[in-house]
Amino acid sequence: MQITVVGTGYVGLVTGVTFAEVGHEVICIDVDSTKIKMLKRGEVPFYEPGLQQLLVHNLANGRLTFTTDGDEAYRLRDVIYVAVGTPSKADGAVDVSYMEQAVVDVAKAIEEYTVIVIKSTVPVGTNERVRAMVAQHTSCPFDLVSNPEFLREGSAIYDIYHGDRIVIGAEHERAAETVAMLHKPFGTPIFHTDPRSAELIKYAANAFLATKISYINEIANLCERLGANVDAVAHGIGLDRRIGAQFLQAGLGYGGSCFPKDTRALLHMAETAQSDLRVLAAASTVNERQPYVVIEKLKKRFSSLRGLRIALLGLSFKPNTDDLREAVSLVILQELQAAGASLIVYDPVVDHPKGNRVLEQVMFAGSIDEALSGAEASIIVTEWEEIKAFPLARYKVLMKEAVVIDGRNCYPLAKAEKAGVEYYSIGRPAVN
Ligand code: UGA
Repeated sequence: MQITVVGTGYVGLVTGVTFAEVGHEVICIDVDSTKIKMLKRGEVPFYEPGLQQLLVHNLANGRLTFTTDGDEAYRLRDVIYVAVGTPSKADGAVDVSYMEQAVVDVAKAIEEYTVIVIKSTVPVGTNERVRAMVAQHTSCPFDLVSNPEFLREGSAIYDIYHGDRIVIGAEHERAAETVAMLHKPFGTPIFHTDPRSAELIKYAANAFLATKISYINEIANLCERLGANVDAVAHGIGLDRRIGAQFLQAGLGYGGSCFPKDTRALLHMAETAQSDLRVLAAASTVNERQPYVVIEKLKKRFSSLRGLRIALLGLSFKPNTDDLREAVSLVILQELQAAGASLIVYDPVVDHPKGNRVLEQVMFAGSIDEALSGAEASIIVTEWEEIKAFPLARYKVLMKEAVVIDGRNCYPLAKAEKAGVEYYSIGRPAVN
């Protein structure tokens, strides 16, 4: 089939590249000409494992092309996917202006029946509203389908081939079947529903996972008070299939471009609909507080943080991505800067990003060794494989005072004991 994908961010690009990989003919369009030039050269503008190889492969076989030209991208296509950003507004509402603009551009250009698919995360009711907008700009027949995205950054390519479900919210069977056909090569189970429910499934799923994380983080904080071990507790409850083992990793809270934004948006939607989402509101508050457990642990250990040399390991909001959006590291760094600490950071991928006020004021190390050398405390913020595999014994050798605050429970307690470091983690007894 001939597919167009509007927006070459992580969702749009992964969608376009993998559709090409399974044999569809794909054009990706973006308003950012610098990005399109990079993509034409086979360069991915962000870090996503496995994506570059697929991009290069499909550019070479001619199934994947990139353009900034709407006429080329929108005329005479079977399906047009809209995957542009829908950022948060100050009050938590969703800014759908880029998505609306894209859909109007599409409407003005189409010349025959076209299936337009909204992949961007949009508030419930958007499909209906946008359908009316499209109708104002074209006399061609069309269908508007909601097809939310469930890929995780950092493992998007894996997720495409191992997804739990594809959700298709459509008014008409013809359009629903067209979108289902596109996904057939991936072998993912398909769930058909109405557009409003499809839109809400996306928010409700992300909000549920976010709530699960905040729940285990609260239990972790309780474990510390009661002398239990959250790793054991999470494992023990996760064995119950009704609960499930995933998303019970206690830590410093969730970040990224999705959970914080989507929980805020759902709370805003509920408020507008005069419906109280008290559980989700509490989960969100718990998450905002969770990064501060690191600061509390440091303040308990050191009489003052002023001038203290602290190494922070891991900046991205999770491993295998260079995404810093709503990253916990930034909250912690800001707090430590305010307390007058001397900061050195290391991340395997994030290196001197431009225009970030917090990161402009810290030193960047080229390796974990360099970050730890002479440090009086260290904080593990992101559980990159390289950081998890780094021997604790090296902390003892390199640091001035081997105080390790592990915000992601990367090491078994027995290893900390053996290495002879002072080790504080989340929801587990301290080793000192
Ligand atoms: C999330 C969802 O998992 C995807 O299904 C969804 O498609 C995506 O949002 C989206 O809406 O686009 P993502 O934000 O990429 O994906 O990453 P996750 O792996 O879900 O992690 C989110 C945050 O939760 C990270 O900060 C991570 O460190 C944290 N987390 C995750 C925990 O603290 N504990 C856990 O057990 C799991």
